[in-house]
Amino acid sequence: MNFGGTIRPNNKAVAIFLVSVATLYLIYTWRNSAALAKESAFGSEKVSIGEILCAAIAAAEAGGREVKAVREKGTELNEKSKGKTKEGVKDVLTDGDMRSHQVMYSTLTSYFPHIKVISEEHDENNISMEPVNFNKKCPALEQISKLEWAPNDSITIWIDPLDATKEYTENLLEYVTTMVCIAVKGEPVVGVIHKPFEKKTYWAWVGQGMAEELLEINKAPEADNESFIISLSHTGDAVENRIKSKFPNAKVEKAGGAGYKSLQIASRHNAAYVHMTHIKKWDVCAGHAILKALGGRVTTMKNEPIKYGSGANDQVLIKDGLLASLHNGDFYSKLFKE
Ligand SMILES: *[C@@H]1O[C@H](CO)[C@@H](O)[C@H](O)[C@H]1NC(C)=O
Ligand SMILES: *[C@@H]1O[C@H](CO)[C@@H](O)[C@H](O)[C@H]1NC(C)=O
Ligand SMILES: *[C@@H]1O[C@H](CO)[C@@H](O)[C@H](O)[C@H]1NC(C)=O
Repeated sequence: MNFGGTIRPNNKAVAIFLVSVATLYLIYTWRNSAALAKESAFGSEKVSIGEILCAAIAAAEAGGREVKAVREKGTELNEKSKGKTKEGVKDVLTDGDMRSHQVMYSTLTSYFPHIKVISEEHDENNISMEPVNFNKKCPALEQISKLEWAPNDSITIWIDPLDATKEYTENLLEYVTTMVCIAVKGEPVVGVIHKPFEKKTYWAWVGQGMAEELLEINKAPEADNESFIISLSHTGDAVENRIKSKFPNAKVEKAGGAGYKSLQIASRHNAAYVHMTHIKKWDVCAGHAILKALGGRVTTMKNEPIKYGSGANDQVLIKDGLLASLHNGDFYSKLFKE
C-alpha cells in the first residue's frame, strides 16, 4: 500500500509535531533518569571512593611538601602553644601545621564540597593556599578492580596535616607524617599516610588494594609477639609498667607520631601499639584503615570498636586509649582489658 499519497500537507505537519514531542519526551526522561542515578532518594549524591583516594594521596603529598618546605627554610617555625596534652606535654602548632592544613583542606573541600572534612587544625592564621590538581584516574587505581561509590552523607574525611608536631620542632623528622582517612558509615575504608621527609606514601583501601610499599613490607616475617611500641611523649612509666605486668620480658620501643607507630605495626617492626590515654580520631583513622586492610585489629584499650562518623553524637576524642596489632589482636585485647 502506498500511504504517502494519503498524507495531506496538514497531516504531515501533525506527524512532524508528534515526532518532535516524542523526541523531546525521550530526551527529558533520559536526562531525568541520569540525574536519578546520581542522586538517591534522600537528597544525597553518590561519590566515587576511588576519586577521593586519588585526591587524598595528592592532598597528603601536597601537605607534606609544605611541612618540609617550612622546616627546610631553616628559620623559625612560628611555634605557638595549643596548651598541654593529657600527658602534660606541650601541644604546639607551627607554620608547617597551618600551611599543610590549608592546602590539604582546600584540596579536599574544593573537589568534594558535599563531603564532611574534619581537620586537626583550623584556618586561624589566614594563610590561603590554592587546592592542588590531581588526576582522577591516578596510578593507585590501576590495581583496584571494583570502584565503589558511596552517598556523600555517609562519608567523613579526616585530615591530620602534621602528625608529631613536637618531634617536628625537635628535628626528629622520621616520625613526621601527613594523613588522610576516608570513613564510610563510620568505618575506616581508606587510609593514606605520607612521610614527607622520606617522600613515601602508604595507602590502603580495605578489601581493594594497597600501595606497593605496603605489599612489599607485608611479606616480612611476623614481629616478635612481645615487641611493643608506645608514645615517645608519655611522661612516666605507666604504659611501660602496664605492658610489663602482662609480659615481663616485653621489649618496649618509644616513638613519636600515631601515623609512624601504625606503620611500624603494618611493617611488622612491632607487634602491638599501646596508648593508654586520650587520642584524637585524625591521629588514628588512617592507620586504622591500613591495619584493617592488612587484616589487623584496632580497638580502644577496653576492646571497644572505634567509629569515625561525624554525626551529632560522634566524638573526635577516643577516651579509652588505643590498641593496634596485625596478628593475635584478640589475645592482646583480652589481656589488656583485664
Ligand atoms: C550531600 O549532597 C546533597 C545533595 O547535593 C546536599 O544537599 C547535602 O548537603 C550533602 N551532604 C553533606 C553532608 O554535605
Ligand atoms: C586575610 O588576608 C587577606 C588577604 O591577604 C586580608 O585582606 C584580610 O584582611 C586578612 N584577614 C585577617 C583576619 O587577617
Ligand atoms: C609468642 O611467641 C612465643 C614464641 O614463639 C609463643 O610461645 C607464644 O605462644 C606466642 N604468644 C602469642 C600471644 O602469640
